[in-house]
Amino acid sequence: MSENKIETLRWNNDHLEMIDQRILPTDFQYISYNSALTVADGIRSMVVRGAPAIGCAAAYGVALEALNLQDASVDKFSKGMEQAFKILLESRPTAINLFWAIDRMRSKMNENINLTSIEIANKLLTEAHEILNEDIEINRTMGTFGAELLEDGDCVLTHCNAGALATAGHGTALGVIRSAVEVGKNISVIADETRPFLQGARLTAWEMVQEGIPVSLISDNMSGHLMSNGEVDAIVVGTDRVASNGDVANKIGTYMVAVLAKRHNIPFYVACPLSTIDLSITSGSEIPIEERPIEEVTGYRDFQWAAKGISVRNPAFDVTPADLVTAIITEKGVVFSPNSEKIKRLFD
Ligand code: MRU
Repeated sequence: MSENKIETLRWNNDHLEMIDQRILPTDFQYISYNSALTVADGIRSMVVRGAPAIGCAAAYGVALEALNLQDASVDKFSKGMEQAFKILLESRPTAINLFWAIDRMRSKMNENINLTSIEIANKLLTEAHEILNEDIEINRTMGTFGAELLEDGDCVLTHCNAGALATAGHGTALGVIRSAVEVGKNISVIADETRPFLQGARLTAWEMVQEGIPVSLISDNMSGHLMSNGEVDAIVVGTDRVASNGDVANKIGTYMVAVLAKRHNIPFYVACPLSTIDLSITSGSEIPIEERPIEEVTGYRDFQWAAKGISVRNPAFDVTPADLVTAIITEKGVVFSPNSEKIKRLFD
């Protein structure tokens, strides 16, 4: 298997290219980006999505803006960069990786503030490359830890897409599955379709088919039935933000899966890099939950099936309390029954 079969984002000479995840799996196409503004639009419109991938995209957005401003005066450079940070910070609210990556890019800029604009821009581009490469490496490490939790022959249910497409490569939850398969375990996957944006049906199913890992697609309301039939051995999901007490925000519907998993004594694992853990908040109730356009619920693409004028709610994420989480899989190891103390220790 090649190291990184799916290149969710890639740098091409002087611009960023990202797979347009909105049109997968029927079409496969890269879109080019050359500024913070266009990258922010790519994040907001979900050309790129998934917490770590959003972080990588934002880092390149910062670097692109610096490259565009490399001939500007010091004053213009710093004003332009502030504007870039602001636009990117506002692109999506829930995934902490966005804020983490922008903070890291800002620190890199401040460390080098006495250099020329072009030198700063080059440092920022190098940092963006590092964030991307580190993400793949971290996912592989998490995969190795997580693979040990899965038994040969396991059927693993996953929700949303926490695969290569949600990261720089390999994936978090799907990275655990890929790594288990790489070490010779027979793993099959059940992919929740993940209403309303269908990341499971469109992206997870596609990734698993590409990889030749057996996958069955189900609609979200089928998972309880399959769990009660004993057809699910483990659940592995990703996350957009983990609070310091171990509460986990992930794609809407994850909480339902976790409650059902508890009912049926099925381990519920969450795979994420440390950059997804937000130590500044004490519990999941402080995590901002994105509300997305109503059209995602009333229909799909150009087709509307719900009555015109209907009132709609579309929260894009929910919070699973820590006590429903069997373990969090990170690049520093596996944290069983997560709580504040154990999570803090990961950062020591
Ligand atoms: O709205 P999305 O598609 O960006 O939501 C993505 C998820 O909820 C993923 O499960 C999460 O970001 C983890 S990705 C490794």
